[in-house]
Amino acid sequence: MIASLDQFVDEKQWQEVVEEIQRVGVETLNRSVDEADPGRVVYPHGVVTESKDPETHVDGAAVKRFETSGNVSDSTFGLYLRMPTAKGAMEHQNRSRSDMWEDAPLFNKFPKFKAFIEEQVIGKVLKEMGRIWVIIDRSGKDGIRHRDHTIPDVLNEFLWLRAGTAKTIQVFSEDSSAQPQRCTGHAGWFDPRYEHQAVCLDPDTPAISIRIDGPFTDEARKAVSDYQPWAPAASVGN
Ligand SMILES: [Fe+2]
Repeated sequence: MIASLDQFVDEKQWQEVVEEIQRVGVETLNRSVDEADPGRVVYPHGVVTESKDPETHVDGAAVKRFETSGNVSDSTFGLYLRMPTAKGAMEHQNRSRSDMWEDAPLFNKFPKFKAFIEEQVIGKVLKEMGRIWVIIDRSGKDGIRHRDHTIPDVLNEFLWLRAGTAKTIQVFSEDSSAQPQRCTGHAGWFDPRYEHQAVCLDPDTPAISIRIDGPFTDEARKAVSDYQPWAPAASVGN
């Protein structure tokens, strides 16, 4: 399931920010490794394997953790614009907590985006900012089909944004019997415990998306809860 959040994010104002994200995002990746900003990380494309080191959840249950391996030159880059400030911030259940994340130095290179979040996102879609990260893929390929986690009682709240049209995301049904659903607008949410995958729509353009973790406003939570899992694909586009 993918819930559209387009109605909460003004498309015209968002498009004015996209140019900055594309330009500064690619500039950041093009700097040498020696100049790498804190927060720039590389996720090699390749095989997803189940970790030998399962995560132990707060309730004591061991849950699966997934890892990737592959060729670093054919990679997805993540830029953290908010960095963890506390032990445990990276755990899935803590990614929305503003008290465990703070602005990264890299965030200052995106002044329009920063202002956009403060003025257009906070209070409208999310109550506060937890983790923010930008995902840039220059491989020209689709991303790895994966689940973020399988923790039963952790339902992540976040705003997923497309920066341009080179990329979207598709989410698969639990038993793969239905067609995967794709985000066709500019803003949305999905449950990352379902299998999902970035989709490359233009191999010549860096594929960029952003995930802003944070607790939903009451209005956004209602919009998301109105979506029934695996409603017919026609109801959200294809
Ligand atoms: Fe994911």
